[in-house]
Amino acid sequence: MNIKNLLSKMSLEEKIALCSGADFWHTKTMEQHGIPSMMVCDGPHGLRKQENETDMLGINLSVPATSFPTAVSTGCSWNTELLEEIGEAIGQEAVANKIGVVLGPGANIKRNPLCGRNFEYFSEDPLLTGKLAAGLIRGIESTGIGSSLKHFAFNNQEYKRFSSDSIMDERTMREIYLTGFEIAVKEGKPSTVMSAYNKINGEHCSDSKMLLTDILRNEWGFDGMVLTDWGGMSNRIKGFKSGCDLCMPGGSAYMEKEALAAVKDGSLSEQDIDCSAERILDKIFAAQKAFVQKISVNMDAHHTLARKAAEESAVLLKNDDDLLPLSTDSKIVFIGEMAKEIRYQGAGSSHINPWKLTNVTDSCPDIPYSNDPEAARNAEIAVVFAGLTPAYESEGFDRDNMKMPEMHLELIEKVASINPNTVVVLLCGSAVEMPWDDKVKSILYMGLPGQAGGEAIANLLFGKVSPSGKLAESWPIHYQDCVCSTYFGKKDAHYREGLYVGYRYYSTAKINVRYPFGHGLSYTSFVYSNLSLSNGTVTVDVRNTGKQAAKEVVQLYVLPPKDGLYRPAKELKSFTKVFLLPGECKTVSLPIHERSFAVWQDNWVVPSGVYTISVGGSSENLPLSITTEKRGEKIKDNRPEWYYHPSSAPSQQDYEKLIEKSVVAPSLIKGHFTMDNTVMEMKDYSLIMKIMYKAVEATIAKGFAGKKDYSNPEFRMLMNSAADSSLSGMKISGGMKNYVLEGMLAMANGHFFKGLGLMMKKA
Ligand code: BGC
Repeated sequence: MNIKNLLSKMSLEEKIALCSGADFWHTKTMEQHGIPSMMVCDGPHGLRKQENETDMLGINLSVPATSFPTAVSTGCSWNTELLEEIGEAIGQEAVANKIGVVLGPGANIKRNPLCGRNFEYFSEDPLLTGKLAAGLIRGIESTGIGSSLKHFAFNNQEYKRFSSDSIMDERTMREIYLTGFEIAVKEGKPSTVMSAYNKINGEHCSDSKMLLTDILRNEWGFDGMVLTDWGGMSNRIKGFKSGCDLCMPGGSAYMEKEALAAVKDGSLSEQDIDCSAERILDKIFAAQKAFVQKISVNMDAHHTLARKAAEESAVLLKNDDDLLPLSTDSKIVFIGEMAKEIRYQGAGSSHINPWKLTNVTDSCPDIPYSNDPEAARNAEIAVVFAGLTPAYESEGFDRDNMKMPEMHLELIEKVASINPNTVVVLLCGSAVEMPWDDKVKSILYMGLPGQAGGEAIANLLFGKVSPSGKLAESWPIHYQDCVCSTYFGKKDAHYREGLYVGYRYYSTAKINVRYPFGHGLSYTSFVYSNLSLSNGTVTVDVRNTGKQAAKEVVQLYVLPPKDGLYRPAKELKSFTKVFLLPGECKTVSLPIHERSFAVWQDNWVVPSGVYTISVGGSSENLPLSITTEKRGEKIKDNRPEWYYHPSSAPSQQDYEKLIEKSVVAPSLIKGHFTMDNTVMEMKDYSLIMKIMYKAVEATIAKGFAGKKDYSNPEFRMLMNSAADSSLSGMKISGGMKNYVLEGMLAMANGHFFKGLGLMMKKA
């Protein structure tokens, strides 16, 4: 297919029209040019292909597919090859379902444990995030199907996600929030990237030429298509200029007339539109090519892979007296609802309809199961299943706190008070406070382990396989220990803490955590020796000194010179996972690069000085170290004191000095509302918006037997998506007519008759 030739035959109107979808999941068919439609679908833990009722929140049914462990779990695998295998399996299911692009992986950084969508992201660390995302991308793309790296970028909270402004300094952007995407783009080569809903320093991501062209394409060499998150196109004209190609979902003709007029009056170049249309056509025809492959999809093999992935991702947080693994000869009881119905995936757009689902009770038919804590009395060992229910964490809203449900806490406490040999299997998509930690002997953290989670848990508990996952995020003791706990979750996201995210903060500020980044025990033990560095490669010997074959994640951290430059105490710069038989020793190679020592100062530069390289099995357990001297640049730094000695939260003044500007929290003033404001925000100031809000609430409640049930995650998600989406977003996703919204906005600003006029004029 000669795409340039095809483009030359299309009219300007047709090219603009091609740059927004046909409906919720499809691009446009243009028979006159032989252009077929392409279907895309979520992502990222399996396919969510909706054939009937569509939505972006995972509410209506999708076709059965394999539900792989979610990113919160696979993040703990630290295994890039495993991610590649999962990607390939998802790609195969996509080929069989004629899906051109799978919307994932998500590579946003877990900045705060309360982000409702943390379960869909890998880690608080950019290197780990980038490497794992690249693995999944390589796997999907190997089948000819496109992946979509999302949500690019700085989307680290769900609250006001459609309109929130992420405000941060350039070092923080580069060193923390962009690095994962950069690695994923360079090493994974995704054919598409999805722009995020939010703004970055005042500009919507979909409008940002700096992000979508200067950085993504020119610096990183991305040559694929950018599509918006659903309803996330801010300004179509700016979008064409920034390199934002495809507006999704389709069906609204959002700002197409304006784009046409802009080309006609010379303020938008037709070449920008050609570039976008060409990139979309490229993807559509690449998908067509992929669909002709004869791939036989072995769903049983995918289920086995899902199990293997869940096993590799499990983190043994503690194991006093080696209580685990269990022996089948012991008198064991399983307690808690989640043993029968494990929580295996998160709510929202990544929600999959699994073709098969295994529970722990089904996988261990001989172990008695009860919901009564008293059952622990007659057992030698009690295994409690607990965690978070879907009402606690979901796309669309953030968690209110880090606590587990009261009933789960009571269950654990009660069982532990009855039986000293208590094991807890934790099923949740993000870190939780564990006031009960000292009362139980063993804790096995499964994250949200996908459709084969039940079998995986059984295999892990009974030692068929040793846990080998390591935490991809720090687990603070209390939520308040998290540096941004006092200022997270506001409309605009003020990244006051700069580089100090997760372990970068805890290790620099020397704050104890419940379980550190990189932590995870095993049924065997490992000894490290012979650390050396030569030609950019660090090597170390790792020996399995225990009795069971197992895998170990070998982690390498760089500790910068103490030269007064603002930098975290340590940063992960390399890792690998190695399988060792009992007694076996392997020499492991860990590549490092100049970039492993660099900071961002208008470019990547290596500050001079003596660096320490530490290696071990957790960020807080690094038995071996060597030093290396770098003759780089002398860098002057002049930040507020907090950034050299962080403790507790930085002040607003510190932050303003860091970003070199003052910021004011956005205030809502009648008369100044814009298309960027939401019905939810304006309802307390305007009658028309209140009426609109009530109408949305009543319409959504119809799907919930008339109940306005804010405790139901689906209801909350839908309300936030409909009533807390900007008015411009409502044009795209809600199908609202421009003149109606313009009229309502004028009314909300106190100009009733003007608003009425606007509505009447176009009516
Ligand atoms: C989510 C995306 C998802 C899209 C389509 C959006 O609400 O943020 O991750 O791919 O919906 O379902």
